[in-house]
Amino acid sequence: MDVKGKTAIVTGSSQGLGRVFAKTLAKAGARVIVNCAHHPDKAQTVVDEIHADGGIAEVYVCDVSDEKAIAKMFQDLGRVDILVNNARVDPYSRRPEMTEGEWWDRVIDISLKSCFLCSMAFFDQAKDDGKGGVIVNISSVRAFRPAEMHMIAYGVSKLGMHGITRAIAHNGAPFGIRANTICPGMCLTENLTKRLTPEQQKAEGSLIPIGRGSTMEENADAVMFAIENDYVTGETININGGMYYAP
Ligand SMILES: NC(=O)c1ccc[n+]([C@@H]2O[C@H](COP(=O)([O-])OP(=O)(O)OC[C@H]3O[C@@H](n4cnc5c(N)ncnc54)[C@H](OP(=O)(O)O)[C@@H]3O)[C@@H](O)[C@H]2O)c1
Repeated sequence: MDVKGKTAIVTGSSQGLGRVFAKTLAKAGARVIVNCAHHPDKAQTVVDEIHADGGIAEVYVCDVSDEKAIAKMFQDLGRVDILVNNARVDPYSRRPEMTEGEWWDRVIDISLKSCFLCSMAFFDQAKDDGKGGVIVNISSVRAFRPAEMHMIAYGVSKLGMHGITRAIAHNGAPFGIRANTICPGMCLTENLTKRLTPEQQKAEGSLIPIGRGSTMEENADAVMFAIENDYVTGETININGGMYYAP
């Protein structure tokens, strides 16, 4: 797929990986929808950065766990060619008063139900006009590694995305719709570099065979490959520095 002139939604792209995915798509010539729910000011900064680079982008505020809001977003935007399901709840943002059930519902709603609902809305509008499209789901190594006790809901939300990828790839192929999953390991986002001291980042990086966390651009390369290669569908692309082969 040549992304030039295509419309791409990147959910949760007001910061972190989503921001870099949005900027990379815009640099390649896509019209990018920078989505978020809570910090439109940050999303506007991403759009301003894209405009300064000569790209095309706009902010669309939408809580991607809200079915009605998603339906409106797809209606408002017109034909969408590329959907990157990237939004998530920060797994370290649990408030102490939340029960296990409240936390589970919040994580699953925002990190997994959003992927299902956006994928279904995308599929419905892409299947009928013969133009197809592509979905990229942003999962995590935590989908496959045993989660720490406080990360179980997050790990399950990420694992669920792989099922959605496979189903969309299978059912979408006759309509020219593809779906792939990107599965990052430790990535040096602004949140991570705030949460961990340089010494902690080095210590965590040293557990990875390649010896460091990934850059956001390394993950964006994988997203672009999953979008641009028309013969890749139903796949998982792991970007984890060899973590699965670590002892
Ligand atoms: N960082 C890593 O090391 C790492 C590793 C593996 C996988 N990943 C995956 O990569 C993706 C991006 O991670 P990240 O670290 O860049 O995430 P992040 O910094 O926590 O950003 C999450 C984004 O989601 C948005 N968001 C939250 N709730 C939303 C909602 N209800 N509707 C729409 N948008 C919403 C946030 O914007 P607002 O707050 O403005 O709504 C923000 O833009 C995630 O799917 C994550 O699981 C990250």
